[in-house]
Amino acid sequence: RQGQVAKLVCPYHQWTYELDGKLIWANDMGPDFDASKYGLKPVNLRNLDGLIYICLSDTPPDFQTFAQLARPYLEVHDLKDAKVAFTSTIIEKGNWKLVWENNRECYHCSSNHPALCRSFPLDPEVAGVQADGGVSKKLQAHFDRCEAAGTPAQFVLAGDGQYRLARMPLQEKALSYTMDGKAAVSRHLGRVAPPDAGTLLMFHYPSTWNHFLPDHSLTFRVMPISPTETEVTTTWLVHKDAVEGVDYDLKRLTEVWIATNDEDREIVETNQQGILSPAYVPGPYSPAQESGVMQFVDWYAAWLERALAPRQVAAE
Ligand SMILES: [Fe+2]
Repeated sequence: RQGQVAKLVCPYHQWTYELDGKLIWANDMGPDFDASKYGLKPVNLRNLDGLIYICLSDTPPDFQTFAQLARPYLEVHDLKDAKVAFTSTIIEKGNWKLVWENNRECYHCSSNHPALCRSFPLDPEVAGVQADGGVSKKLQAHFDRCEAAGTPAQFVLAGDGQYRLARMPLQEKALSYTMDGKAAVSRHLGRVAPPDAGTLLMFHYPSTWNHFLPDHSLTFRVMPISPTETEVTTTWLVHKDAVEGVDYDLKRLTEVWIATNDEDREIVETNQQGILSPAYVPGPYSPAQESGVMQFVDWYAAWLERALAPRQVAAE
């Protein structure tokens, strides 16, 4: 799952592969065995400033448009100079869509996330953007202040709604996701100005949301395991030369999101139980608080329609 190796060795029968996937050793397979036919399967891979995206499709979608849009936002975070300070993997007993829906609103935050709410603002005027991309004067002033300091901040949403970038303010005086709102790491990862630039929120459906802060960065990978199980992996990134115990305290760095993830897990799981009930009927979303959920549902429904269309034609 992690680390470095010179060769990839299958633990079952020790078939051994080069890092490029070529099979170089397989014991007792007979004289007619052609190793060149049994290499590892290739996948489509793109590296965006150190963030690795893979796609298993034979016909991968366009990645370039997203990369061009995201690169200036990410550049100031110097992710190539990052190291992993901590990784957490949890399984939420809920459907992948419920995990995403929960991520796309903060309607639940005040009553569920006491630690996060010390730094993350609840006022939708500050924390939220309308489904059409409309922003409040207060939020626009924050974007303008960041951009004047050379830090891209403006809200951008993909045409088909698959990804979004926006540098959102934290609560007044908060600089990072810590219990006291102060920076978690003294040696910053990146060159973000001003110090209270807040958090660059970047999601890319179907598999990742991210928070890039002036002092450190957080990536989240969302992986469906079964119809009622989703794996969420959180990675805390700090500057490669930052020293644990000197430049940052690991508990201080990770405690807010470890707690927040666990709180989200619990509400996603109870939500799933409710949906599995025979008495379940869907309710309406809050227009003021859940425009992000509507955006996700609209993207998903449109994507599903497109994905199903050719199969229907083929069936006829
Ligand atoms: Fe949450």
